[in-house]
Amino acid sequence: MEWPWLLPVSDTSDTNSPMKVLIIGSGGREHALAWAIARDDMVEHVFIAPGNAGTALEPKCSNIAIPVNDFDAHIEFCHRERIDLTIVGPEDPLVNGIREHFDAAGLKCFAPSREAAQLEGSKGFAKAFMQRHDIPTAAYLTTGRLDEAIAYIEAHGSPIVVKANGLAAGKGVVVAQSISEAVEAATEMLSGDRFGDAGREIVIEEFLEGEEASYIVMSDGTSVLPFASSQDHKPVFDGGLGPNTGGMGAYSPAPVVDDLVEAKILDRVIRPLIAGMAAEGTPFQGFLYAGLMISKNQDVHVVEFNCRFGDPEAQPVLYRLQSSLPSLCLAAVDSQLSTKTIEFDDRAAVGVVVASGGYPESYETGYTISGLDQIPAGAKAFHAGTRVQNDEIETSGGRVLCVVGADADFMEARQLAYSGIDAIHFKDQHYRTDIGYRVIERLQH
Ligand code: AMP
Ligand code: GLY
Repeated sequence: MEWPWLLPVSDTSDTNSPMKVLIIGSGGREHALAWAIARDDMVEHVFIAPGNAGTALEPKCSNIAIPVNDFDAHIEFCHRERIDLTIVGPEDPLVNGIREHFDAAGLKCFAPSREAAQLEGSKGFAKAFMQRHDIPTAAYLTTGRLDEAIAYIEAHGSPIVVKANGLAAGKGVVVAQSISEAVEAATEMLSGDRFGDAGREIVIEEFLEGEEASYIVMSDGTSVLPFASSQDHKPVFDGGLGPNTGGMGAYSPAPVVDDLVEAKILDRVIRPLIAGMAAEGTPFQGFLYAGLMISKNQDVHVVEFNCRFGDPEAQPVLYRLQSSLPSLCLAAVDSQLSTKTIEFDDRAAVGVVVASGGYPESYETGYTISGLDQIPAGAKAFHAGTRVQNDEIETSGGRVLCVVGADADFMEARQLAYSGIDAIHFKDQHYRTDIGYRVIERLQH
């Protein structure tokens, strides 16, 4: 069968190929980035630090055993291998200032600065920035004091949302259904028991109603190119039950982001953010992720910003990308993004995550994964928590794989992804069976 949108793309207009790329990270997002970059004719080789079993096996790709926060080792490697471009996947190295290290070494790195990464690294920073620039978001209080927190919670009532200010791997948010639950969350966070220092300051905010969507763009600091919209599924169980995870599945496009909503997102959120960051002397260059709540009457509010691509959003979104990702990233690093356009395949893509039993709480690893060679044509298994051990692929993390299917028909795309999931087996595996339920509900109305 022909999958024309998966043919290698090529755009050698602004570099002398072949180029070498380094990707930092080890998750499903990084596998999707590596795959999207390696299939480009202008790219000779992609290194992933440290990568996973999927990136190790991808054509033109190899893993290098450097931890994500060992910037000196990255830089030494880039000089030695003559790497043309580095792309950073996760938030940790961004918040730790990887961009500054690469700039000082004279190496091209598509990533926001440490200051720009505060949009994700500090929820308090992001809220205050939005308030300064009139970007719509929930009413809130940032505090490090329990008495202030309790007074705010009691004055506003429930439901109400309590968030650790710092990075907490997507788990530092409690959507409290009662005042006592909110007070308990605030107490635990502020004591440092729950998220350590990340929770010593908290943001308490108004509960927003509506449907969530992810909107990701790339920026060179002034211009913006939007990726196709997407939608994540954060709770671990079907029906949106159970604790929040990094994301159990995603699809692209998200029908809730119609033309009107997209125009609002760009006009009220993305453009004011890029202009505001530039005006404050901290231009945002990199992937920018806006987590949004879209109300019934199509009002748009920001739930959070991330300074990186989403995971698992990257898997379905990049699966649809038809433009040359390395060329776009190079243009962004050179502040030339306004000369570029970005194209996506019209087909819908659906990604379903299969996780280790027990995730997002404690789980076992080291289980052999079978069936990866049985994934149907047209579907793709992006790896996350996997490693190669004695010539076998085994589990090594919470989210293990994300299988993506694409088709002009959403239900066919979803079926393709679930056929791939059906082929895969490992001990205690768990996945949601309802990825895309909101689209299905729409299709039924
Ligand atoms: P965050 O890490 O800030 O994205 O929050 C994690 C999840 O908590 C979001 O994806 C939402 O589902 C939920 N959430 C966060 N803030 C709010 C809010 N103000 N209103 C309703 N739900 C929220
Ligand atoms: N999927 C949500 C995130 O990447 O933060």
